[in-house]
Amino acid sequence: MYPRFSHLSLAPTNGINATLDATPPPLIPAVGPRLAHKVCVVTGAASGIGRAIAVYFAKQGGDMALIDMNDEGLRETTSMCEAQGRRAAYFIGSVGSKADVDRMLASIITIFGTVDVLVNNAGISRDNLFTKMEEAQWDAVLNVNLKGVFLMSQAIAHVMRAKGAGSIVNISSIVGKSGNIGVANYGAAKAGVIGLTKCIAKEMGRHHVRCNCVLPGFVMTPLIANLPPKVMEAVIRDTPLGRLGEPEEIARACCFFASEDGSYCTGNCLEVAGGMFM
Ligand SMILES: NC(=O)c1ccc[n+]([C@@H]2O[C@H](COP(=O)([O-])OP(=O)(O)OC[C@H]3O[C@@H](n4cnc5c(N)ncnc54)[C@H](O)[C@@H]3O)[C@@H](O)[C@H]2O)c1
Repeated sequence: MYPRFSHLSLAPTNGINATLDATPPPLIPAVGPRLAHKVCVVTGAASGIGRAIAVYFAKQGGDMALIDMNDEGLRETTSMCEAQGRRAAYFIGSVGSKADVDRMLASIITIFGTVDVLVNNAGISRDNLFTKMEEAQWDAVLNVNLKGVFLMSQAIAHVMRAKGAGSIVNISSIVGKSGNIGVANYGAAKAGVIGLTKCIAKEMGRHHVRCNCVLPGFVMTPLIANLPPKVMEAVIRDTPLGRLGEPEEIARACCFFASEDGSYCTGNCLEVAGGMFM
């Protein structure tokens, strides 16, 4: 067992009085549910990766507050979480609307009393070549994929700061790092999510709120189902593991950051992309 330093006073350096109250969280056992009784908010939970995150977190003992605009899919995911024996409730609205975000968060607090974990997963694509991209395509993607992360994180950061604990996990994309043809709006938004993650991490660390980012590669969900077969073949050829990702493989990475397994991680960006664009 290593000694653990709960209160560390550093001598003043460069004129700054650096006294830290750096009490580490109690370490949880290496086996067992990772999110027992944590209230977890997942956006874009009606489909694909968001659904996989919701169900995996419920399996890990989380109580689930699920957000999406797709009423039917959201009800299905809610039932799937309840089938894991956890509390689950759904909230219909857009992450890109401050009015919707405030309304949904108020309902979440009424039902669950708090928020411990936020996963900003909701996302859309409106692909077009850069020279042909319309302003509406740019605005739609930036509104959901970047502004939505800002609005949700800001609203829930107030709750987490007040309780002095919390974990935010943002879903970016490998495209936010590598770029790609026909996705200038999407790539710019996802690169923005990486920058936003690091800013939140720096600002909220002193409140014991962590913020990290997961960068999926190509994962088989409705979002990429319409990619031309030639593009799919090229993706698989360029992926060292030689296959697409499964939504649950993204969920497992999110659980690492959301839970105390990732208790000393903040501002990190983890690629879960089968080795694509190392
Ligand atoms: N599938 C991939 O290959 C891949 C790769 C990298 C990153 N991602 C990212 O993963 C996340 C999930 O994507 P997915 O593949 O599961 O797609 P998906 O289309 O299956 O799911 C996205 C969900 O977000 C919801 N949504 C859209 N706009 C919303 C809004 N304004 N408010 C609330 N919910 C909204 C949709 O209704 C849908 O349920 C996205 O952020 C996406 O950019 C996906």
